[in-house]
Amino acid sequence: MTEPLVTVEGIQVHFPIKRGLVFDRTVGYVYAVDGVDLTIQRGETYGLVGESGCGKTTLGRGILRLVEPTGGRVVFEGTDVSTLKGEALRKMRRRMQMVFQDPLSSLDPRQSVESILVEGMRAHGLDKGKEATGNRLRELLSAVGLPVTSLRKYPHEFSGGQRQRIGIARALAVEPDLIVADEPVSALDVSVQAQVLNLLEELQDTLGLTYLVIAHDLAVVRHISDRIGVMYLGSLVEETDSETLYSDPLHPYTRALLSAIPVPDPVVEDRREQILLAGDLPSPAAPPTGCRFHTRCPWRQETRCDTERPELRQIGAGHRVACHYAEDIRSGAITPHEVTAELVEVDSGGGPAVTHAASVAEMLEP
Ligand SMILES: Nc1ncnc2c1ncn2[C@@H]1O[C@H](COP(=O)(O)OP(=O)(O)OP(=O)(O)O)[C@@H](O)[C@H]1O
Ligand code: SF4
Ligand SMILES: [Mg+2]
Repeated sequence: MTEPLVTVEGIQVHFPIKRGLVFDRTVGYVYAVDGVDLTIQRGETYGLVGESGCGKTTLGRGILRLVEPTGGRVVFEGTDVSTLKGEALRKMRRRMQMVFQDPLSSLDPRQSVESILVEGMRAHGLDKGKEATGNRLRELLSAVGLPVTSLRKYPHEFSGGQRQRIGIARALAVEPDLIVADEPVSALDVSVQAQVLNLLEELQDTLGLTYLVIAHDLAVVRHISDRIGVMYLGSLVEETDSETLYSDPLHPYTRALLSAIPVPDPVVEDRREQILLAGDLPSPAAPPTGCRFHTRCPWRQETRCDTERPELRQIGAGHRVACHYAEDIRSGAITPHEVTAELVEVDSGGGPAVTHAASVAEMLEP
């Protein structure tokens, strides 16, 4: 597993904020994705985590060019996708498919399952006559564990888990190499979540698929991922294999995310470090200066943190972290302290950013 399928270099997606009834003025930007570098190896599962609004979906859509990136590039098997147009882009799209969070809203309620599955095949010239297509449809349904009788049914006739299986079959219908699964199980009951995750893993083994799995739930990405990227306000703050992320998390934000997961063992649960994050996620329209996490970071230092944006740098084999003080945090040379959250917001008129502070109690190491 050393051959890259997708290489993302400095990708940015900035959404303009418009004002004015007659003249559309651009008064600012939402920096939804602001400079992400990552590589996904062929056949691996790359998990992407981070809290709501940090830019996970936009990054996934930017990689597939379902939203036009503002900057950077995406190289898919040696081809720069960012410059493709027309037919070449359409052909490339077949190889990269998306599975969405809510299968009910992503499946057209007026289309039968057969019509949903055939649509993509037809668009890419894979509908090769009645018999061949019929066989392919049966094969797809069996691959995702649905009966053949499903073909004539409509999305509302299925349960949530079955609908997600239809969404997966639709993605598979065009024989993709990469599947971007955006919160593929968050709309499902816990008991059904594991079944769908297992299905994704089985399909990966039999079809050699590569996955980018987006989830806000760390348990979901841990279960399924080879490597994990942690995102905060439009950038990656840490990336490593999933074992190391849990055993040796270095970025303060990763530590906070992990500390929020309850541990089943009551003794461990009592002793474990808990870090409550102060304040809300700052607005991606007015990101904090320097390290974007400095407004909430319990390890924030007097120098560099609020002035210098840390690069995502290599700190061990396959382990990258965007924190000036990662080594000192790991060694315990610096320790966490209480945080007074500074929230930065853009006022409703799109004028200058206003800053206000909120004091939030911190609970660290009981
Ligand atoms: N089309 C758009 N126009 C303007 N802003 C947008 C657009 N799409 C997303 N955003 C903003 O970009 C930021 C990142 O959004 P995104 O949906 O990528 O986050 P996310 O990490 O997927 O969140 P969630 O976990 O809630 O799905 C948010 O502030 C969002 O409001
Ligand atoms: S650079 Fe500073 S503010 Fe940012 S995560 Fe590291 S210690 Fe915290
Ligand atoms: Mg999302």
